[in-house]
Amino acid sequence: AEDAPARGLHVVITAGPTREPLDPVRYLSNHSSGKMGFALAAAAAELGARVSLISGPVNLPTPQGVERTDVETALQMHEASRRLAADCDLFIGCAAVADYRAATAAEHKIKKREGEEGLTLKLIKNPDIIADIAHARDAAGGRPFVVGFAAETRDLEAYARDKLTRKRLDMIVANDVSAAGLGFGADDNAALLLWRDGEGEGGEQLPPQPKTELARAVIERALGCLTSRPVH
Ligand code: C5P
Repeated sequence: AEDAPARGLHVVITAGPTREPLDPVRYLSNHSSGKMGFALAAAAAELGARVSLISGPVNLPTPQGVERTDVETALQMHEASRRLAADCDLFIGCAAVADYRAATAAEHKIKKREGEEGLTLKLIKNPDIIADIAHARDAAGGRPFVVGFAAETRDLEAYARDKLTRKRLDMIVANDVSAAGLGFGADDNAALLLWRDGEGEGGEQLPPQPKTELARAVIERALGCLTSRPVH
């Protein structure tokens, strides 16, 4: 139907920050609000898709018609993503996944040590969730169409193109987070859309606009690519 172009499609979206425990009362995290990911989920649901939203800890209501899975850590988000992406048509990684977690979270509260000025924490790398989904897709030779995000403060296009290639994404939404009033925590955002080699030559610039509108444009572009791709 014209009003529900995504009917029959399963869309999986990661959103928000992850929270990596250091001990029972402390964690490492970031300032991601989850707004963009939730706006993407709302837009996909409005277009008729079945939407699975995998969210880190955020303060946002679940959009109408969206199936939400709450997670805390990157490892939990990874597990939920693998499970839900197994039968999805479109996977969008919008979460600000913590790059590192504590090598071992302390079982008890870490105590302040008298006479020592510093404390060294040992961190280890978290899995790259979206790269894992895209590499598994390539190995299996089929779905889903994978869309990533890149938030940069400089050399936006070069860094975004590098992520597109390295993570084997189909499309990337690049944001300049140094621009005032845009990006992290804000209600508005602007983006440069880039596609993997050969498609959408040169990319497409989306001007500053409410995240709800930008989300709609991103979902529409991704759906357009999906329907023009061969069915497996
Ligand atoms: O490398 P960077 O974190 O800038 O890449 C951003 C993109 O990769 C986003 O789509 C983000 O959701 C995804 N990502 C991920 N797992 C990670 C790190 C990033 O899925 N561990």
